[in-house]
Amino acid sequence: MKKKLTVALVGLSFGGFFSEIYKLHPDVERVVLFDTDKKREENLCKRLGIEEHYDTYEDILSDPDIDAVHLVTPFTMHEKQTIAALEAGKHCACTVPMGLTLEGLKKICELTEKTGKNYMMMETTLYTYQYFYAQQMKEKEEFGKIQFLRGCHYQDMTKWPDYWIGLPPMYYSTHAMSPITMMAGSRIKSVNCFGSGTLNPEYQKQYKNPYPVETAVLTYENGLKAEVTRSLFETAREYIEGFHVYGSKKTFEFGDLDSAKPTVTSLIPPIEGNRGGTSETVEIELPGYAENLPESIQKYAIQGGDFDPLNPHKSWGENWGAGHHGSHPHLVHEFVRSIIEERKPLIDEKFGANITATGILAHESAMQDGKKMEIPLF
Ligand SMILES: NC(=O)c1ccc[n+]([C@@H]2O[C@H](COP(=O)([O-])OP(=O)(O)OC[C@H]3O[C@@H](n4cnc5c(N)ncnc54)[C@H](O)[C@@H]3O)[C@@H](O)[C@H]2O)c1
Repeated sequence: MKKKLTVALVGLSFGGFFSEIYKLHPDVERVVLFDTDKKREENLCKRLGIEEHYDTYEDILSDPDIDAVHLVTPFTMHEKQTIAALEAGKHCACTVPMGLTLEGLKKICELTEKTGKNYMMMETTLYTYQYFYAQQMKEKEEFGKIQFLRGCHYQDMTKWPDYWIGLPPMYYSTHAMSPITMMAGSRIKSVNCFGSGTLNPEYQKQYKNPYPVETAVLTYENGLKAEVTRSLFETAREYIEGFHVYGSKKTFEFGDLDSAKPTVTSLIPPIEGNRGGTSETVEIELPGYAENLPESIQKYAIQGGDFDPLNPHKSWGENWGAGHHGSHPHLVHEFVRSIIEERKPLIDEKFGANITATGILAHESAMQDGKKMEIPLF
């Protein structure tokens, strides 16, 4: 077992926010930074006191000292760069989504099997304060039976880099699908999806997608159903990546306003002689959930002041590198520890492929007016 790792962080726009966290992680010996935008790379290297530079991604992959690669490049590159990293014998973490084609997802799964290297989809929504709270409710069996789930991600991406323009909403639906799927504790088996609204013709050109909004029903292997809605353009809605877990005893909801506290609703059975139960809803004060992290990176999980809802992957001040509701240091910690402990990470290739394939096939279903699509086994 290797004691400390060398990690290459590739793609330094959103990716830059992970650099300091790797640098301060006690199980990381060395961090290498790479971006094709050399100015961006240089600025960040200066900030972190890193002197080594690599000319190409291939140079990183051929350096035997580098154990792992974390990709935060545009999603159009994820499949190809992940496959190259695994083929080069590196562990690979990649920001969402895992890819854009079923063939690519299959190949990544085959390669993790063949090489024994780890793949982790760096899904921020599975390490937020809100998710940790719901997960603890599940562990304590507070929901009773989980009866239904709902996930949403509303975000306007106008003026984001070109590759986003007109993207089918469900191609980037992992934030809406991941928390509810972990909560369901089951693989997504099939999806029916519908598109809604009209996207302006200019935006339709790149991906031949006519829809600003897509809404899907997921069927899980254990029989549960979930509804997922995703909007990307021309829809007036405050940004949120939310989820609802409806239980026979209690329900957790975080899906209205990002800045609002989540709520827990308890079902109160009817009193003698009355019809119908009543309910009681309370707002939840979320703790920070930093205690399981190494001390050196706990500050990146601190709630409050570190998150700008208008610019969710930017943050500022002392906790530069924090954001997405405290998730960044947890993602780094899980990826690094999974390698050191020689185990699969929580968000492994099978989970990532199931969620990502569901998004790809949901759009295909929407293009065929809701036709049922079976999700392949990965
Ligand atoms: N919550 C989340 O998990 C979350 C949030 C935002 C973005 N993302 C994902 O992260 C990706 C990147 O987001 P972003 O906003 O930083 O995108 P961006 O397009 O603003 O920046 C991408 C960066 O990658 C660099 N790059 C491009 N090609 C490269 C290559 N071949 N090798 C190395 N570097 C290269 C660019 O120069 C740039 O610095 C998105 O495509 C999306 O998939 C995830």
